[in-house]
Amino acid sequence: MKEPRRIHYLKAMGLTLWQRRIVAKAGRGDESREGAEDARAVDSETGVAHSDPIDETAPALEARVNPELDDWQELQQSVKRCKACGLRAGCTQTVFGVGNPQAELLVIGEAPGADEDRQGEPFVGRAGQLLNGMLLAMGYKREAVFIANIVKCRPPNNRDPKPEETLSCEPYLQRQIESIKPKVILAVGRISAQNLLKTDIAVGKLRGRIHSFGNQGIPLVVTYHPAYLLRSPEQKGKAWQDLQLALSVLRGDRA
Ligand code: URA
Repeated sequence: MKEPRRIHYLKAMGLTLWQRRIVAKAGRGDESREGAEDARAVDSETGVAHSDPIDETAPALEARVNPELDDWQELQQSVKRCKACGLRAGCTQTVFGVGNPQAELLVIGEAPGADEDRQGEPFVGRAGQLLNGMLLAMGYKREAVFIANIVKCRPPNNRDPKPEETLSCEPYLQRQIESIKPKVILAVGRISAQNLLKTDIAVGKLRGRIHSFGNQGIPLVVTYHPAYLLRSPEQKGKAWQDLQLALSVLRGDRA
């Protein structure tokens, strides 16, 4: 990618400090300074999190996706109709996901927030703007990738989705992944990374390497949630490293 274009995209991500470093010198010295930043890193990234009282009235239904269902539109309809957990009762609409159903890059966030619930599309608020910048910094327009969430309905007051809610919604995401067959999954934030990798390890420890997702063995890269990056912009350099790692897989630079 040409330098002015690259700088433009990095600007879109808000990476002005990083940009200055490239212009000055890109080399080992810079990496070791990154290392110094690493030492100050907080790895208890929370993304978007509040804890609300549990909705005990949530119907204990099970999410079932018809195993015969291989059609994308049908999957969308199935998500629209879903009432498998209590979240649907409290949200405006389901948020299936957006973008290219044949994308090589699949971005997975946590759950719709207030803006997403209103518009029926993931990542349309401030965090979404930053995500768009991050994608542009990688060389992808938003519409070229697919963007989905761990759960399709907004949890009340933006609380974390509960384990039973993520479990209910899991078959839908699984079907989306099977259908899209991305080359790389980018898990943004703690809820996404921990649910996809079935772990409780902090994002700061999961990021910076290539994981393997599910039976399909899809390369999965973890990075910070854009909402967290808005609160902690000093972590954007590390997020950019993660995006470059994802890019190296997408370009086939790694086996
Ligand atoms: N945060 C997410 O994780 N997903 C969205 O869709 C919006 C904000």
